[in-house]
Amino acid sequence: MMSIKNNSKPYQDSQLTQIEFGGAQDVFYSWSNDQRPMIVKGEGIYLWDEQGNKYLDASSGPVTCNIGHSNPNVLRAMQQQAQELTFSFASSSRNLPNIDLAKKLTELAGEGFERALFVSGGSEAVDMAIKFCRQYRYATGEKKRNKLISCLPSYHGMTLGALAVSGDPVFAEVFGEMISMAHKIPAMMSYHRPDNQSEEEYSLQCAKYLEEKIIEVGEDSVLAFIIEPVGGSSSGAIAPPELYFNEIRRICDNYGVFLIYDEVMSGTGRTGEFLTSHLWPDARPDITVLAKGLGAGYAHLGAMLAPAALVDELSELTGFNYAHTYNASPLSCAVGSAVLNEITQNGLLENTRNMGLYLRDKLGELQNKFTIIGDVRGRGLLLAIELVASHSPRKYLPLDIEAIERFKKLAQLEGLLIYGRRSNGGIYGEPLLIAPPLNVTIEELDLIIEGLAKTIGIFEAELRTNGII
Ligand SMILES: Cc1ncc(COP(=O)(O)O)c(C=O)c1O
Repeated sequence: MMSIKNNSKPYQDSQLTQIEFGGAQDVFYSWSNDQRPMIVKGEGIYLWDEQGNKYLDASSGPVTCNIGHSNPNVLRAMQQQAQELTFSFASSSRNLPNIDLAKKLTELAGEGFERALFVSGGSEAVDMAIKFCRQYRYATGEKKRNKLISCLPSYHGMTLGALAVSGDPVFAEVFGEMISMAHKIPAMMSYHRPDNQSEEEYSLQCAKYLEEKIIEVGEDSVLAFIIEPVGGSSSGAIAPPELYFNEIRRICDNYGVFLIYDEVMSGTGRTGEFLTSHLWPDARPDITVLAKGLGAGYAHLGAMLAPAALVDELSELTGFNYAHTYNASPLSCAVGSAVLNEITQNGLLENTRNMGLYLRDKLGELQNKFTIIGDVRGRGLLLAIELVASHSPRKYLPLDIEAIERFKKLAQLEGLLIYGRRSNGGIYGEPLLIAPPLNVTIEELDLIIEGLAKTIGIFEAELRTNGII
Protein backbone atom coordinates (compact mmCIF):
# COMPACT_ATOMS: atom_id res chain seq x y z
CA MET A 1 0.00 0.00 0.00
CA MET A 2 1.20 3.52 -0.79
CA SER A 3 2.08 5.71 2.12
CA ILE A 4 0.00 8.79 2.99
CA LYS A 5 3.22 10.63 3.92
CA ASN A 6 4.06 10.66 0.25
CA ASN A 7 2.08 13.39 -1.48
CA SER A 8 1.16 11.18 -4.40
CA LYS A 9 -2.41 9.87 -4.48
CA PRO A 10 -2.54 7.27 -1.68
CA TYR A 11 -5.05 4.89 -3.21
CA GLN A 12 -6.92 3.87 -6.30
CA ASP A 13 -10.69 3.53 -6.06
CA SER A 14 -10.40 -0.25 -6.29
CA GLN A 15 -8.15 -0.20 -3.23
CA LEU A 16 -10.58 1.57 -0.91
CA THR A 17 -10.40 -1.18 1.67
CA GLN A 18 -6.66 -0.53 2.00
CA ILE A 19 -6.88 3.17 2.95
CA GLU A 20 -4.63 4.21 5.78
CA PHE A 21 -6.30 6.28 8.49
CA GLY A 22 -5.24 9.85 9.16
CA GLY A 23 -2.37 11.47 7.30
CA ALA A 24 -0.77 14.89 7.37
CA GLN A 25 -2.90 17.97 6.64
CA ASP A 26 -1.75 17.95 3.02
CA VAL A 27 -3.92 14.89 2.23
CA PHE A 28 -6.59 17.57 1.75
CA TYR A 29 -4.52 19.65 -0.67
CA SER A 30 -4.17 19.21 -4.43
CA TRP A 31 -2.10 16.21 -5.47
CA SER A 32 1.48 16.93 -6.27
CA ASN A 33 4.64 14.88 -6.56
CA ASP A 34 6.51 17.33 -4.38
CA GLN A 35 7.51 15.92 -1.05
CA ARG A 36 6.95 18.36 1.81
CA PRO A 37 9.66 18.14 4.45
CA MET A 38 8.65 16.55 7.77
CA ILE A 39 9.82 19.22 10.19
CA VAL A 40 10.80 17.84 13.59
CA LYS A 41 12.76 20.62 15.29
CA GLY A 42 13.13 24.39 15.30
CA GLU A 43 15.64 26.68 16.97
CA GLY A 44 16.25 30.37 16.29
CA ILE A 45 16.00 30.96 12.55
CA TYR A 46 16.52 27.26 11.69
CA LEU A 47 14.30 24.23 11.18
CA TRP A 48 15.33 20.59 10.77
CA ASP A 49 13.56 17.74 9.01
CA GLU A 50 13.54 14.10 10.07
CA GLN A 51 16.49 13.30 7.80
CA GLY A 52 18.53 15.94 9.64
CA ASN A 53 18.44 18.48 6.79
CA LYS A 54 18.72 22.03 8.11
CA TYR A 55 16.64 24.88 6.66
CA LEU A 56 16.83 28.62 7.18
CA ASP A 57 13.31 29.94 7.81
CA ALA A 58 13.67 32.96 5.50
CA SER A 59 10.00 34.02 5.65
CA SER A 60 9.30 33.16 9.32
CA GLY A 61 6.89 30.46 8.10
CA PRO A 62 4.06 32.46 6.54
CA VAL A 63 5.45 35.66 8.15
CA THR A 64 4.52 34.40 11.61
CA CYS A 65 7.54 33.20 13.62
CA ASN A 66 8.68 36.75 14.30
CA ILE A 67 11.07 35.92 17.15
CA GLY A 68 12.37 32.63 15.75
CA HIS A 69 11.77 29.14 17.08
CA SER A 70 12.11 27.70 20.60
CA ASN A 71 12.59 31.04 22.34
CA PRO A 72 13.40 29.98 25.94
CA ASN A 73 11.54 32.88 27.61
CA VAL A 74 8.37 32.20 25.69
CA LEU A 75 8.62 28.46 26.38
CA ARG A 76 9.05 29.19 30.09
CA ALA A 77 5.99 31.48 30.14
CA MET A 78 4.01 28.83 28.27
CA GLN A 79 5.01 26.12 30.71
CA GLN A 80 4.30 28.24 33.79
CA GLN A 81 0.87 29.22 32.51
CA ALA A 82 0.06 25.65 31.46
CA GLN A 83 0.78 24.47 35.00
CA GLU A 84 -1.56 27.07 36.48
CA LEU A 85 -4.51 27.38 34.11
CA THR A 86 -4.95 26.47 30.45
CA PHE A 87 -8.58 27.44 29.90
CA SER A 88 -11.29 29.70 31.21
CA PHE A 89 -14.33 30.65 29.15
CA ALA A 90 -14.29 34.37 28.37
CA SER A 91 -18.08 34.64 28.26
CA SER A 92 -18.50 33.49 31.84
CA SER A 93 -15.21 34.23 33.60
CA ARG A 94 -12.14 36.47 33.60
CA ASN A 95 -8.49 35.47 33.54
CA LEU A 96 -5.36 37.38 34.51
CA PRO A 97 -3.24 36.67 31.37
CA ASN A 98 -6.06 38.24 29.29
CA ILE A 99 -5.95 41.42 31.39
CA ASP A 100 -2.16 41.48 31.34
CA LEU A 101 -1.94 41.08 27.55
CA ALA A 102 -4.71 43.60 26.87
CA LYS A 103 -2.78 46.20 28.90
CA LYS A 104 0.57 45.49 27.24
CA LEU A 105 -0.84 45.37 23.74
CA THR A 106 -3.01 48.47 23.93
CA GLU A 107 -0.19 50.48 25.50
CA LEU A 108 2.06 49.53 22.60
CA ALA A 109 -0.69 50.27 20.10
CA GLY A 110 -1.30 53.67 21.73
CA GLU A 111 -4.05 56.25 21.60
CA GLY A 112 -7.12 55.19 19.67
CA PHE A 113 -6.55 51.53 20.54
CA GLU A 114 -7.45 51.32 24.22
CA ARG A 115 -9.38 48.06 23.91
CA ALA A 116 -8.30 44.62 22.65
CA LEU A 117 -10.45 41.58 21.93
CA PHE A 118 -8.58 38.28 21.57
CA VAL A 119 -9.43 35.42 19.21
CA SER A 120 -7.57 32.43 17.77
CA GLY A 121 -6.12 33.85 14.55
CA GLY A 122 -6.24 36.35 11.72
CA SER A 123 -9.42 35.29 9.94
CA GLU A 124 -11.42 35.28 13.17
CA ALA A 125 -10.02 38.71 14.03
CA VAL A 126 -11.05 40.07 10.61
CA ASP A 127 -14.53 38.60 11.10
CA MET A 128 -14.74 40.21 14.52
CA ALA A 129 -13.68 43.61 13.15
CA ILE A 130 -16.40 43.51 10.50
CA LYS A 131 -18.99 42.36 13.03
CA PHE A 132 -17.91 45.04 15.48
CA CYS A 133 -18.37 47.82 12.91
CA ARG A 134 -21.74 46.42 11.92
CA GLN A 135 -22.95 46.00 15.50
CA TYR A 136 -21.95 49.59 16.27
CA ARG A 137 -23.88 51.00 13.30
CA TYR A 138 -26.84 48.74 14.08
CA ALA A 139 -26.88 49.81 17.71
CA THR A 140 -26.57 53.49 16.87
CA GLY A 141 -29.44 53.43 14.38
CA GLU A 142 -27.52 53.35 11.09
CA LYS A 143 -28.92 49.95 10.15
CA LYS A 144 -28.59 50.52 6.43
CA ARG A 145 -24.82 50.46 6.63
CA ASN A 146 -23.83 46.89 5.78
CA LYS A 147 -21.70 47.06 2.61
CA LEU A 148 -17.98 46.41 2.64
CA ILE A 149 -15.24 47.59 0.32
CA SER A 150 -11.80 46.00 -0.04
CA CYS A 151 -8.94 45.80 -2.53
CA LEU A 152 -8.18 43.60 -5.50
CA PRO A 153 -5.83 41.84 -5.00
CA SER A 154 -5.88 41.35 -1.22
CA TYR A 155 -6.06 38.59 1.35
CA HIS A 156 -7.90 38.75 4.65
CA GLY A 157 -8.35 35.11 5.58
CA MET A 158 -10.30 31.93 5.04
CA THR A 159 -13.47 32.10 7.09
CA LEU A 160 -16.45 32.88 4.89
CA GLY A 161 -16.53 36.44 6.28
CA ALA A 162 -12.83 36.98 5.62
CA LEU A 163 -13.16 35.43 2.16
CA ALA A 164 -15.89 37.94 1.36
CA VAL A 165 -13.42 40.79 1.76
CA SER A 166 -10.42 38.97 0.25
CA GLY A 167 -9.70 40.11 -3.29
CA ASP A 168 -9.21 36.98 -5.33
CA PRO A 169 -11.73 35.87 -7.97
CA VAL A 170 -10.42 32.31 -7.64
CA PHE A 171 -12.09 32.15 -4.19
CA ALA A 172 -15.07 34.21 -5.38
CA GLU A 173 -15.73 31.67 -8.14
CA VAL A 174 -16.30 28.90 -5.59
CA PHE A 175 -17.85 30.76 -2.65
CA GLY A 176 -19.14 34.00 -4.16
CA GLU A 177 -22.73 32.96 -4.49
CA MET A 178 -22.92 31.69 -0.92
CA ILE A 179 -21.81 34.91 0.72
CA SER A 180 -22.21 38.59 0.15
CA MET A 181 -18.90 39.52 -1.45
CA ALA A 182 -17.37 42.91 -0.66
CA HIS A 183 -17.15 45.52 -3.40
CA LYS A 184 -13.62 45.67 -4.76
CA ILE A 185 -11.39 48.56 -5.83
CA PRO A 186 -7.97 48.19 -7.48
CA ALA A 187 -5.13 48.01 -4.94
CA MET A 188 -2.29 50.47 -5.29
CA MET A 189 0.33 48.25 -6.96
CA SER A 190 3.47 50.40 -7.28
CA TYR A 191 5.01 47.90 -9.69
CA HIS A 192 2.08 48.31 -12.07
CA ARG A 193 1.98 52.12 -11.96
CA PRO A 194 1.35 53.47 -15.47
CA ASP A 195 4.55 54.97 -16.94
CA ASN A 196 2.88 58.33 -17.51
CA GLN A 197 1.87 58.81 -13.84
CA SER A 198 3.97 60.06 -10.93
CA GLU A 199 3.70 58.24 -7.61
CA GLU A 200 1.66 61.16 -6.29
CA GLU A 201 -0.80 61.05 -9.20
CA TYR A 202 -1.10 57.29 -8.93
CA SER A 203 -1.72 57.51 -5.14
CA LEU A 204 -4.49 60.04 -5.61
CA GLN A 205 -6.05 58.07 -8.44
CA CYS A 206 -6.06 54.82 -6.44
CA ALA A 207 -7.57 56.62 -3.42
CA LYS A 208 -10.20 58.12 -5.72
CA TYR A 209 -11.33 54.60 -6.65
CA LEU A 210 -12.51 54.32 -3.04
CA GLU A 211 -14.56 57.50 -3.20
CA GLU A 212 -16.10 56.47 -6.52
CA LYS A 213 -16.99 53.05 -5.14
CA ILE A 214 -18.60 54.52 -2.01
CA ILE A 215 -20.77 56.74 -4.19
CA GLU A 216 -21.61 53.84 -6.54
CA VAL A 217 -22.57 51.51 -3.68
CA GLY A 218 -24.53 54.22 -1.85
CA GLU A 219 -23.05 56.73 0.56
CA ASP A 220 -25.28 55.80 3.46
CA SER A 221 -24.96 52.04 3.04
CA VAL A 222 -21.18 51.55 3.19
CA LEU A 223 -20.03 50.14 6.52
CA ALA A 224 -16.26 49.78 6.21
CA PHE A 225 -13.20 49.72 3.99
CA ILE A 226 -10.57 47.12 4.88
CA ILE A 227 -6.98 47.22 3.64
CA GLU A 228 -3.56 45.72 4.40
CA PRO A 229 -1.17 48.67 5.06
CA VAL A 230 1.54 46.51 3.52
CA GLY A 231 0.29 43.76 1.26
CA GLY A 232 0.89 40.12 2.11
CA SER A 233 0.95 37.01 -0.02
CA SER A 234 -1.70 38.18 -2.48
CA SER A 235 0.17 41.24 -3.71
CA GLY A 236 3.71 40.60 -2.46
CA ALA A 237 4.42 43.35 0.07
CA ILE A 238 3.03 46.29 -1.90
CA ALA A 239 3.64 49.32 0.28
CA PRO A 240 1.62 52.38 -0.76
CA PRO A 241 2.93 55.74 0.51
CA GLU A 242 1.58 57.96 3.30
CA LEU A 243 -0.25 60.18 0.81
CA TYR A 244 -2.44 57.27 -0.26
CA PHE A 245 -3.37 56.41 3.33
CA ASN A 246 -4.00 60.07 4.22
CA GLU A 247 -6.39 60.25 1.30
CA ILE A 248 -8.32 57.09 2.14
CA ARG A 249 -8.59 58.26 5.77
CA ARG A 250 -10.01 61.58 4.57
CA ILE A 251 -12.49 59.84 2.25
CA CYS A 252 -13.64 57.41 4.96
CA ASP A 253 -14.20 60.34 7.35
CA ASN A 254 -16.15 62.22 4.70
CA TYR A 255 -18.59 59.39 4.14
CA GLY A 256 -18.78 57.95 7.66
CA VAL A 257 -17.07 54.73 6.59
CA PHE A 258 -15.04 52.75 9.13
CA LEU A 259 -11.42 52.25 8.13
CA ILE A 260 -10.02 48.84 9.13
CA TYR A 261 -6.30 48.08 8.80
CA ASP A 262 -5.60 44.39 8.50
CA GLU A 263 -2.18 44.22 10.15
CA VAL A 264 -2.27 40.46 10.61
CA MET A 265 1.00 40.27 8.71
CA SER A 266 2.37 43.82 8.91
CA GLY A 267 1.65 44.40 12.63
CA THR A 268 3.45 43.65 15.92
CA GLY A 269 6.73 45.10 14.71
CA ARG A 270 7.12 43.50 11.28
CA THR A 271 7.57 46.82 9.46
CA GLY A 272 9.79 48.39 12.14
CA GLU A 273 6.93 50.18 13.93
CA PHE A 274 4.72 48.33 16.38
CA LEU A 275 1.81 49.08 14.05
CA THR A 276 2.50 50.20 10.50
CA SER A 277 -0.10 52.94 10.99
CA HIS A 278 2.22 54.54 13.57
CA LEU A 279 4.07 55.86 10.52
CA TRP A 280 1.08 57.95 9.49
CA PRO A 281 -0.29 60.31 12.19
CA ASP A 282 -3.08 61.52 9.87
CA ALA A 283 -4.08 58.11 8.63
CA ARG A 284 -4.84 56.13 11.77
CA PRO A 285 -7.56 53.51 11.25
CA ASP A 286 -10.67 53.04 13.38
CA ILE A 287 -9.97 49.36 13.90
CA THR A 288 -6.77 47.31 13.58
CA VAL A 289 -6.55 43.56 13.24
CA LEU A 290 -3.50 41.57 14.40
CA ALA A 291 -2.53 37.88 14.49
CA LYS A 292 0.50 35.97 13.13
CA GLY A 293 3.40 37.74 14.91
CA LEU A 294 1.34 38.30 18.08
CA GLY A 295 1.44 34.60 18.92
CA ALA A 296 4.60 34.32 16.77
CA GLY A 297 4.00 30.63 16.09
CA TYR A 298 3.86 29.79 19.82
CA ALA A 299 0.11 30.34 20.32
CA HIS A 300 -3.04 30.59 18.24
CA LEU A 301 -3.75 34.23 18.80
CA GLY A 302 -5.38 37.11 16.98
CA ALA A 303 -6.66 40.47 18.19
CA MET A 304 -9.00 43.26 17.24
CA LEU A 305 -7.93 46.68 18.53
CA ALA A 306 -10.57 49.37 18.89
CA PRO A 307 -10.95 52.78 20.58
CA ALA A 308 -12.37 52.80 24.11
CA ALA A 309 -14.97 55.39 23.08
CA LEU A 310 -16.58 53.03 20.55
CA VAL A 311 -16.31 49.90 22.67
CA ASP A 312 -17.69 51.56 25.78
CA GLU A 313 -20.55 53.19 23.90
CA LEU A 314 -21.47 49.89 22.29
CA SER A 315 -21.28 48.08 25.63
CA GLU A 316 -23.90 50.45 27.00
CA LEU A 317 -26.19 49.91 24.01
CA THR A 318 -26.30 46.29 22.85
CA GLY A 319 -22.85 45.07 23.85
CA PHE A 320 -20.67 43.07 21.49
CA ASN A 321 -21.51 39.61 22.72
CA TYR A 322 -19.92 37.35 20.12
CA ALA A 323 -17.72 34.68 21.60
CA HIS A 324 -15.60 31.90 20.20
CA THR A 325 -14.77 29.18 22.70
CA TYR A 326 -11.06 29.99 22.71
CA ASN A 327 -11.40 33.79 22.90
CA ALA A 328 -8.87 35.29 25.34
CA SER A 329 -7.51 31.86 26.26
CA PRO A 330 -5.21 32.24 29.27
CA LEU A 331 -2.54 30.05 27.69
CA SER A 332 -2.49 31.98 24.40
CA CYS A 333 -2.60 35.33 26.21
CA ALA A 334 0.32 34.41 28.49
CA VAL A 335 2.32 33.44 25.41
CA GLY A 336 1.30 36.68 23.65
CA SER A 337 2.61 38.71 26.61
CA ALA A 338 5.91 36.82 26.55
CA VAL A 339 6.23 37.48 22.80
CA LEU A 340 5.60 41.21 23.31
CA ASN A 341 8.22 41.24 26.07
CA GLU A 342 10.74 39.79 23.64
CA ILE A 343 9.93 42.52 21.12
CA THR A 344 10.17 45.40 23.59
CA GLN A 345 13.02 44.17 25.79
CA ASN A 346 15.33 43.24 22.92
CA GLY A 347 14.91 46.36 20.77
CA LEU A 348 13.36 44.36 17.94
CA LEU A 349 11.64 47.34 16.32
CA GLU A 350 14.98 49.05 15.85
CA ASN A 351 16.58 45.82 14.69
CA THR A 352 13.77 45.39 12.16
CA ARG A 353 14.34 48.86 10.76
CA ASN A 354 18.12 48.35 10.49
CA MET A 355 18.04 44.80 9.18
CA GLY A 356 15.21 45.72 6.81
CA LEU A 357 17.35 48.41 5.18
CA TYR A 358 20.30 46.06 4.88
CA LEU A 359 18.21 43.24 3.41
CA ARG A 360 16.53 45.56 0.97
CA ASP A 361 19.90 46.83 -0.28
CA LYS A 362 21.16 43.29 -0.74
CA LEU A 363 17.98 42.26 -2.57
CA GLY A 364 18.46 45.32 -4.78
CA GLU A 365 21.95 44.04 -5.64
CA LEU A 366 20.40 40.71 -6.67
CA GLN A 367 17.91 42.58 -8.83
CA ASN A 368 20.78 44.37 -10.60
CA LYS A 369 22.67 41.14 -11.09
CA PHE A 370 19.91 38.89 -12.37
CA THR A 371 17.37 39.16 -15.17
CA ILE A 372 14.43 37.54 -13.40
CA ILE A 373 14.03 39.81 -10.37
CA GLY A 374 11.62 42.45 -11.59
CA ASP A 375 11.00 44.33 -8.36
CA VAL A 376 12.08 44.53 -4.73
CA ARG A 377 9.56 46.16 -2.40
CA GLY A 378 8.02 46.28 1.05
CA ARG A 379 8.65 47.84 4.46
CA GLY A 380 10.92 46.86 7.33
CA LEU A 381 11.30 43.08 7.25
CA LEU A 382 8.20 42.52 5.15
CA LEU A 383 9.89 42.46 1.76
CA ALA A 384 9.17 40.76 -1.54
CA ILE A 385 10.90 39.94 -4.77
CA GLU A 386 8.88 39.72 -7.96
CA LEU A 387 9.82 37.02 -10.48
CA VAL A 388 9.69 38.06 -14.14
CA ALA A 389 11.09 36.89 -17.47
CA SER A 390 12.96 40.18 -17.81
CA HIS A 391 12.93 43.41 -15.82
CA SER A 392 13.82 45.75 -18.66
CA PRO A 393 11.93 45.63 -20.88
CA ARG A 394 9.42 44.18 -18.42
CA LYS A 395 8.18 40.75 -19.48
CA TYR A 396 6.22 38.40 -17.28
CA LEU A 397 6.85 34.67 -16.93
CA PRO A 398 4.34 32.30 -18.54
CA LEU A 399 1.72 31.34 -15.97
CA ASP A 400 1.90 27.62 -16.75
CA ILE A 401 5.45 27.23 -15.44
CA GLU A 402 4.18 27.90 -11.85
CA ALA A 403 7.26 30.03 -11.15
CA ILE A 404 6.59 30.58 -7.43
CA GLU A 405 6.26 26.87 -6.69
CA ARG A 406 9.34 25.99 -8.73
CA PHE A 407 11.41 28.72 -7.07
CA LYS A 408 10.38 27.61 -3.56
CA LYS A 409 11.36 24.02 -4.41
CA LEU A 410 14.78 25.06 -5.70
CA ALA A 411 15.31 27.28 -2.65
CA GLN A 412 14.42 24.39 -0.36
CA LEU A 413 17.15 22.32 -2.01
CA GLU A 414 19.53 25.18 -1.12
CA GLY A 415 18.34 25.04 2.50
CA LEU A 416 16.00 28.07 2.36
CA LEU A 417 12.30 27.94 3.24
CA ILE A 418 10.50 30.78 1.47
CA TYR A 419 6.84 31.75 1.56
CA GLY A 420 4.82 32.77 -1.46
CA ARG A 421 1.69 31.57 -3.16
CA ARG A 422 -0.07 32.33 -6.37
CA SER A 423 -3.02 34.67 -5.98
CA ASN A 424 -5.60 35.79 -8.54
CA GLY A 425 -4.39 33.05 -10.90
CA GLY A 426 -1.02 34.84 -11.12
CA ILE A 427 -2.28 37.80 -13.16
CA TYR A 428 -0.82 40.37 -10.77
CA GLY A 429 2.63 38.77 -10.81
CA GLU A 430 4.72 36.15 -9.06
CA PRO A 431 5.98 37.56 -5.73
CA LEU A 432 7.85 35.75 -2.97
CA LEU A 433 7.99 37.14 0.56
CA ILE A 434 11.40 37.54 2.16
CA ALA A 435 10.57 38.15 5.80
CA PRO A 436 12.97 36.63 8.34
CA PRO A 437 12.33 36.91 12.12
CA LEU A 438 12.65 40.39 13.63
CA ASN A 439 15.69 39.30 15.68
CA VAL A 440 17.61 38.24 12.56
CA THR A 441 21.33 39.12 12.45
CA ILE A 442 23.47 40.48 9.59
CA GLU A 443 25.24 37.10 9.35
CA GLU A 444 21.90 35.34 8.94
CA LEU A 445 20.79 37.86 6.32
CA ASP A 446 24.01 37.19 4.40
CA LEU A 447 23.16 33.48 4.43
CA ILE A 448 19.68 34.24 3.10
CA ILE A 449 21.15 36.38 0.31
CA GLU A 450 23.70 33.68 -0.52
CA GLY A 451 20.95 31.02 -0.74
CA LEU A 452 18.75 33.33 -2.79
CA ALA A 453 21.58 34.18 -5.21
CA LYS A 454 22.22 30.47 -5.79
CA THR A 455 18.53 29.72 -6.25
CA ILE A 456 17.98 32.63 -8.65
CA GLY A 457 21.04 31.57 -10.66
CA ILE A 458 19.80 27.97 -10.93
CA PHE A 459 16.25 29.05 -11.84
CA GLU A 460 17.49 31.54 -14.40
CA ALA A 461 19.70 28.90 -16.03
CA GLU A 462 16.76 26.47 -16.08
CA LEU A 463 14.50 29.08 -17.71
CA ARG A 464 17.20 29.78 -20.34
CA THR A 465 17.70 26.11 -21.11
CA ASN A 466 13.95 25.79 -21.66
CA GLY A 467 13.86 28.84 -23.92
CA ILE A 468 11.57 30.75 -21.54
CA ILE A 469 13.91 33.72 -21.09
C1 LIG B 1 -3.28 40.11 5.84
C2 LIG B 1 -3.87 38.83 6.37
N1 LIG B 1 -5.08 38.85 6.95
C3 LIG B 1 -5.66 37.76 7.44
C4 LIG B 1 -5.02 36.53 7.36
C5 LIG B 1 -5.67 35.31 7.92
O1 LIG B 1 -5.01 34.91 9.09
P1 LIG B 1 -5.13 33.42 9.61
O2 LIG B 1 -4.44 32.56 8.58
O3 LIG B 1 -4.43 33.45 10.94
O4 LIG B 1 -6.57 33.10 9.74
C6 LIG B 1 -3.75 36.45 6.77
C7 LIG B 1 -3.06 35.17 6.64
O5 LIG B 1 -2.16 34.98 5.87
C8 LIG B 1 -3.15 37.63 6.25
O6 LIG B 1 -1.95 37.62 5.67
